[in-house]
Amino acid sequence: MAIKAQATWGGRFAAGPAELMLRFSESVSFDRRLAPFDIAGSKAHSAMLAKAGLITRKERDAIHRGLDAIGREIATGKFKWQTKLEDVHMNIEQALTRRVPAAAKLHTARSRNDQVATDMRLYFKAACADLIGKISAAQRAILKVALKNRDVLIPGYTHLQRAQPVFLAHHLFVYLEMLARDAERFAAVADHANWCPLGSGALAGTTLPIDREFTAKALGFVDGAGRPRVTPNSMDAVSDRDVFIEFAAACALTGVHISRMAEDLILWATQEFNFVELPDAFCTGSSLMPQKKNPDSAELLRGKSARLQGNLHTLLVLVKGLPLTYNRDLQEDKPPVFDSHDQTTLCLEVLAAIFTGLKVNRTKCAAAVADPALLATDLADYLVRKGVPFRAAHHAVGAVVKLAEQKRVALDRLTYADIKSVHPAFGRDWASSFDLAKAMARRTGTGMPGPAQLARQFKRWQKLLG
Ligand code: ARG
Repeated sequence: MAIKAQATWGGRFAAGPAELMLRFSESVSFDRRLAPFDIAGSKAHSAMLAKAGLITRKERDAIHRGLDAIGREIATGKFKWQTKLEDVHMNIEQALTRRVPAAAKLHTARSRNDQVATDMRLYFKAACADLIGKISAAQRAILKVALKNRDVLIPGYTHLQRAQPVFLAHHLFVYLEMLARDAERFAAVADHANWCPLGSGALAGTTLPIDREFTAKALGFVDGAGRPRVTPNSMDAVSDRDVFIEFAAACALTGVHISRMAEDLILWATQEFNFVELPDAFCTGSSLMPQKKNPDSAELLRGKSARLQGNLHTLLVLVKGLPLTYNRDLQEDKPPVFDSHDQTTLCLEVLAAIFTGLKVNRTKCAAAVADPALLATDLADYLVRKGVPFRAAHHAVGAVVKLAEQKRVALDRLTYADIKSVHPAFGRDWASSFDLAKAMARRTGTGMPGPAQLARQFKRWQKLLG
């Protein structure tokens, strides 16, 4: 069944869209979250129309009052969204038209194509600022765990095999580095979003005397010096979705980083590692096995990263092969973006909460890091300091490891005679290589896990995170 011709574009139509078509093509169920940006855009646009003499100041003021009232209705949940009006833009415009006759002039020199592009750019600027805030909150929670456990050492791993000792804080600072780059990426996305498309019209601008710079300034699309930033090509402005893709990519990458942190936590919380205990409030039990405490929150962090990657992929495929300029396919650009925003927000909040409730098992960490094999490389460095070429030193220490295995003793429990038989350069002080504190103190270079460097990093992060 077809309904009455559509109010905003129905002029050339004998019949309105089928009910099925309306259900199929509506976007108001998800794009209504753009309402605050849509209203801001319409206020700036109508202010510009008044300045350009295309509407009167009285009309402008009536439009502004109407939009503000609609904004309040939406905020308080009183606004009646209508699927048959397709999207957020037409819902708001129609509601305004019912209140304010001048609303019929609001769409002068504007298309939904440049309108939605503007709404989304305003949305991205807000979303990025929001996520950057969530990232800092998660970073602060991680920093607190590092501070509380400054002196804790753990084995560092490669190939999930014990490799060399590191301070737990050094490992946690990896997370801060990852997240700091994620925040930088969101700042870059916000900067790319910071160009005003309004005035691009459907694709080719308008013949009316508009002032794009005025609108851009009114909406805060300005550079560092306050100069307006307007998109330089009308067709590009309504057709590209690269900012969407960059935003989804930044979310996907943040998700991958969080997923790797989650995997560390899952592993560390096993009975086998037992380096940490996750907060009860973020774990679940088993309906069958009474002893179980499962790290579901961390597992979901890992799982959600797949979804974030899927959203990025959806957007890439959506845009690929579309002819210029706008095509309705592009309406499908919003659900993946909103989902990435919401899920990344949740992930960052959960990450912060897990670290806030995280308990470090110092005894287990100390036992694991006491493994002298972790300092086998230090023993090779000992030989290097005695003038042995590294390749030869590496080989000799390999033989020492083998000997210890044969004798079934720990590396540092071999006798001086044993060790001397492997390489003549070993002196009586050979076992000093296994002094963990001294070994850590030798790691002095920038970026290394020695205590002096660690102190520097603590200072840096405390300053950065306030
Ligand atoms: N809801 C539409 C979207 O998000 C708005 C633009 C509609 N433009 C059009 N030419 N039908 O893409």
